[in-house]
This record gives sequence, structure tokens and C-alpha cells, in this order.
Amino acid sequence: MHRHQHLLPIFVALCAAFALIDEVDGEYLIGVGSYDMTGPAAGVNMMGYANIDQNTAGIHFRLRARTFIVAESSQGARFAFVNLDAGMASQLVTIKVLQRLKTRFGDLYTQENLAISGTHTHAGPAGYLQYVVYSVTSLGFINQTFDAIVTAIEQSIIQAHNNLKPGSILFNTGDVENAGINRSPSAYLFNPPEERARYTTNVDTTMTLLQLLDSASNRSIGAFSWFATHGTSMSRENRLISGDNKGAAARFFEDWFTFSNNSLSTRNTKFSTIENISTLRNKAQKIKATGGKPCGKTTSQGFKVRKNDGSRFVGAFCQSNVGDVTPNVLGAFCTDTGKPCDFNHSSCNGNDQLCVGRGPGYPDEILSTKIIGERQFEKAMELFSSATNPLSGKIDYRHAYINFTSIEVQLNESTVVKTCPAAVGAGFAAGTTDGPGVFGFQQGDTEVCTWQL
Ligand SMILES: *[C@@H]1O[C@H](CO)[C@@H](O)[C@H](O)[C@H]1NC(C)=O
Ligand SMILES: *[C@@H]1O[C@H](CO)[C@@H](O)[C@H](O)[C@H]1NC(C)=O
Ligand SMILES: *[C@@H]1O[C@H](CO)[C@@H](O)[C@H](O)[C@H]1NC(C)=O
Ligand SMILES: *[C@@H]1O[C@H](CO)[C@@H](O)[C@H](O)[C@H]1NC(C)=O
Ligand SMILES: *[C@@H]1O[C@H](CO)[C@@H](O)[C@H](O)[C@H]1NC(C)=O
Ligand SMILES: *[C@@H]1O[C@H](CO)[C@@H](O)[C@H](O)[C@H]1NC(C)=O
Ligand SMILES: *[C@@H]1O[C@H](CO)[C@@H](O)[C@H](O)[C@H]1NC(C)=O
Repeated sequence: MHRHQHLLPIFVALCAAFALIDEVDGEYLIGVGSYDMTGPAAGVNMMGYANIDQNTAGIHFRLRARTFIVAESSQGARFAFVNLDAGMASQLVTIKVLQRLKTRFGDLYTQENLAISGTHTHAGPAGYLQYVVYSVTSLGFINQTFDAIVTAIEQSIIQAHNNLKPGSILFNTGDVENAGINRSPSAYLFNPPEERARYTTNVDTTMTLLQLLDSASNRSIGAFSWFATHGTSMSRENRLISGDNKGAAARFFEDWFTFSNNSLSTRNTKFSTIENISTLRNKAQKIKATGGKPCGKTTSQGFKVRKNDGSRFVGAFCQSNVGDVTPNVLGAFCTDTGKPCDFNHSSCNGNDQLCVGRGPGYPDEILSTKIIGERQFEKAMELFSSATNPLSGKIDYRHAYINFTSIEVQLNESTVVKTCPAAVGAGFAAGTTDGPGVFGFQQGDTEVCTWQL
């Protein structure tokens, strides 16, 4: 029992593998990379809401894979972390990426020291996971999505690898204000009172940031931060590909870093919510291109987008213990009456579909995405600017596969129970206030059957 209890935290700690560093040293080889991974922008189902009608129909902004590698020496121990503007990572993607890396780098990057994480945007193309539950609404596997993601991860790792240079890492933490609330506050109240008493809020508001510094130039080459809030600022009706609030935060950070030394005004582009589309179109036609190059029909996708050869600053906003944290911070309201939803069931007179969360830009989801992105960006900028704590020690990592069937759980001194085989409960079918389900289930129901998988 205790053995199992210890495995889970280790697994969760993968993203924070640097916690395992504990000796004094502080000089590493560090490299960063980033690569476009947008995928098919028309007619492909989107990953996250499991909404069969939500198919891509354009792009809000493009998706990227962002990578950092930290190594002890050119052939020595290393750790590679990739953050995807995607719903989640995928074992199938990892297997394919590792195959490609093996032909190029031998055994330098393996399932042990490569961690791939998704921002949990709900506005990226689906069809890149091998398990049935993830592929139902995408009607199976979609090679274009899969290929874009695998290639982006591979290319961003190659960039980071080829740019490994002596460097150091600074570490900082702080609290992000008003970028996430608990979307299941009634369920949270079932936690033991003594446990709840340990925290001042019912969500974790901590942001942890790593600043990557190049020793030779004493300049930052990247910043990776972790903070928990869902990628659901864009709704289940949205059909534009988007990195959602974390993808937006990354763009704000990278633009801020790039332009802060030139002209502050370039990043303060103000968008008015009341302008209509023809006004915007006219405005867009007047904006000059910012250094693009002509491309033909056969030009590769990689050529057409913001490019990186590993020398550009990479700012990534990664997902952490997101659980039930929603960026729709105004709360959940009934779409018919405008009143708050039923507290225990997140429904409106028994109908879960009428209960929907509102972001700070409500009813404009693009504005909500921008605001929640800005709140994370601004905190990251502050943590970045004030970071002084260096990370030091050797590099180590852990990776574990855990079978969640028959894990023993000690309820009290005399009773030990076991987990069941994989199953989904009625609450799953009810969805959440970020995207209600369609089967007539309600949250908080404990009487209905489960579907065993
Ligand atoms: C997927 O797409 C890639 C790139 O276009 C191609 O090389 C590969 O053969 C495709 N795989 C399948 C199974 O269609
Ligand atoms: C590197 O830059 C930081 C601030 O950006 C400064 O505090 C530090 O003194 C610099 N170190 C060197 C060696 O120039
Ligand atoms: C701005 O850029 C110049 C030239 O690239 C560099 O010398 C200077 O240190 C930079 N300043 C800051 C604050 O980054
Ligand atoms: C939208 O734009 C058109 C063309 O510029 C204009 O005629 C119309 O008044 C605008 N509507 C609003 C609500 O601004
Ligand atoms: C929610 O459920 C709890 C018990 O599970 C009950 O005590 C409480 O009154 C309910 N609240 C509302 C608003 O129905
Ligand atoms: C997980 O454990 C269960 C029960 O011990 C077993 O029946 C099942 O085959 C295991 N699954 C895998 C993938 O090993
Ligand atoms: C332990 O938990 C079980 C299951 O909830 C319960 O039946 C039993 O009374 C509990 N025993 C003690 C000593 O609290």
C-alpha cells in the first residue's frame, strides 16, 4: 500500500523534475527551441470538449511546441521538457517522437528523460491519441494532426539540442490573481475539514517559473512557468484553432521579451470589442507586413510561420495540477435566467446544458482568452524580472507507468479497499460548467450506474 502511495506523487512530479536537484553546482548546458504545430485548420474535430459538432474552421492564433533541454555535459545526464499547445500529450506521439530521436541521437533521449506536457487548450485539432475514449468524437485517428505534433516536438528538440550552451537557471514562485476558480466547489467541500483548513482558497494559485540564462551573454534565452488553470477560455462552440489562455500568455511573453528592448508600444496593441468585422478587415489591410517572405505552393509549413533556429527567446506557459480549476472566473450561470446555477448539481432546473461558466470578457471568449492570458503573463513577467534563486546540483529524473486497477487505499486503521478497473461515472457524462455534457446527466449524482471500460 505504501509503495503505491509513493508512486503517484513521483509521477506527478515529472514536470517538476528539477525538485530532484539538490547538490550545489549551477552550471549546465541549456538549450531552447520552438516549432509550429498548428495542424489542420478546417473540418477536423477539436480536442477537449468531446463535441462532435466542434470542427476547425480557421485560426485564432497558431499552436507551438516549446522545448528546453538541460544537460550536465554534451553526452551527460540530461532532461528534456516539451510544452505543447495541445489538449494533452499522447503516448502514441511520444513513441513516434522517440523513434525519430533515436535515429538521430541514439540513446540520449528516452522515455525516462523526455517529458511531454500539454497546455490543455480545448481549441486544437484532435485525433492524435490511440485510445478509444479520446478518438470517439474525432471519428478516429487523424494523421495530419498527429504528424504536425510529432514533427513540431522533434524539430523543437533538435533546435534545443543543437543550441546547448553553458548556462544557469533561476527559480521563482508567486501567486496569480484571479486567473482560476474552482468549478466544482460543492465537490471540494467533501474533502476533510482538517485538510481544507490548511489552505486559504479552494484552488492552488501558485505559479512556478524557471528562467534560463546563457552564461556567455548573460541574457535570458527562455522562461518556463507552471500554473493551474484550464484551457477553456475558448468555448465548446468555438471553431478557431487557438492556444487558449496559455498559448496567448506565451505569445505575450515572447513579444514582450523581444520588443521590451526596442519599443514598448509594439506590444500594447489594443483590441476593441465593439468594432465589427469589416472595420477590423479594413484596419488589417492597412497594417504592413513585419518582415515575412514570399512563399509558393510547395513551400513547407515550417517556412510560412514564425521561425526559430534555437536563437530566439522561448517563453512557455505549462499546465500543472489543473483538476477543476476554470479560467471562467465570473462563475457559472444559467443561460435562460441569467441566475447562478444550482450549487450542488451545476445545473438549471435539472438541465446541465443551461449551466455555463463565464470568463472575465463575457460574452466575448476571445477577450476572456486575452485577459486570462495577460494575468498569467504579467505574473510571469514579474517573477522573471525578480528571479534570483539559482537552481543547482546534478540532473536526475523519474518516470513510472502505473496500473490504476487494484491499487490499495487505506481508508482508516482497519480498512483497506482497492480501486476498480477503469470506469466513467455519471459525473463524467455531465461534463463541467466549461462544457456541459449532452446526455442529460447532472453533476453530483451518486445513484446512477457507471460505465465500465
Ligand atoms: C502521415 O502523414 C505523413 C506526412 O504527410 C506521411 O509521411 C505518413 O505516411 C502518413 N501516415 C499515414 C499512416 O497515413
Ligand atoms: C547578469 O545580469 C544580471 C541582471 O540581468 C546582473 O544582475 C548580473 O550582475 C549580470 N552578471 C554578469 C556577470 O554580468
Ligand atoms: C538592448 O539591446 C542592446 C543591443 O542589442 C544590448 O546591448 C542591451 O544590453 C539591451 N538591453 C536590455 C535591457 O536588454
Ligand atoms: C460595421 O461596419 C460597416 C462598414 O464599415 C458600417 O457601415 C456599420 O455601421 C458598422 N456597424 C457597427 C455596429 O459599427
Ligand atoms: C448541497 O448538498 C449539501 C449536502 O450534500 C447540503 O447540505 C446543502 O444544503 C446543499 N446545498 C444546496 C444549495 O442545495
Ligand atoms: C492492471 O492490473 C489488473 C489487476 O491487477 C490486471 O488485471 C490488468 O491486466 C493490469 N493491466 C495492465 C495493462 O497490466
Ligand atoms: C473504517 O472505514 C470503514 C469504511 O468506511 C468503516 O466501515 C469502518 O467503521 C471504519 N473504521 C473505523 C475504526 O473508523
